[in-house]
Amino acid sequence: MLNTTTVFSLELNPVLLPLDWLLGTWESDEPGEGCFPTIKPFRYIETLNFSHVGQPVINFNFSAFHAETKKPLHRECGFIRMQPGTNRVAFIIAQNSGLVEIEEGELTGQRLDLQSRALARTSFAREPHVQQICRVFQLRGDGKLEQTVSMATDNQALMEHLHVTYRRS
Ligand code: HEM
Repeated sequence: MLNTTTVFSLELNPVLLPLDWLLGTWESDEPGEGCFPTIKPFRYIETLNFSHVGQPVINFNFSAFHAETKKPLHRECGFIRMQPGTNRVAFIIAQNSGLVEIEEGELTGQRLDLQSRALARTSFAREPHVQQICRVFQLRGDGKLEQTVSMATDNQALMEHLHVTYRRS
């Protein structure tokens, strides 16, 4: 059987060196906080995994769970690409809610500022529909990773939906 670890080099592709601080597995260190004007505030836990197979692409999986019951909730997976020689970054994302999106933005040091540039969903996706997403990942001085997600929907202007910090596991 073809085995990627033996057939292909697993050295990080040099294009991705500026993003090497993301690689690995991260666990929320305390429950993340979810909010939006139209919903009840909620708390969740989340595991993030960023990996590579030597391509100029990071593969990722995000899995969120209910903070108390541990019931699986939101999930996202996809790929991260960098435009060689620039600080432009693209996230190509599929979500279990039926949403697919491309977010693009800039890397500044160990901070990523992303904005949705394309959103599509299943014809029967639940309303309200998301119209815009802004997301920030930042590796803080204390070694924790922080993620903030804001969104605009059919009936709400851009507003924070999620804030969470993670420690390496
Ligand atoms: C609600 C989008 C990530 C948990 C919602 C709503 C939207 C949405 C559009 C409905 C808002 C309304 O009714 O006005 C998104 C997007 C995400 C995301 C675009 C990622 C970019 C997450 C994550 C969690 C989560 C990681 C963690 C558990 C919830 C919960 C609700 C909600 C609990 C309220 C109940 C419900 O409508 O299901 N989200 N969400 N979301 N979201 Fe998210």
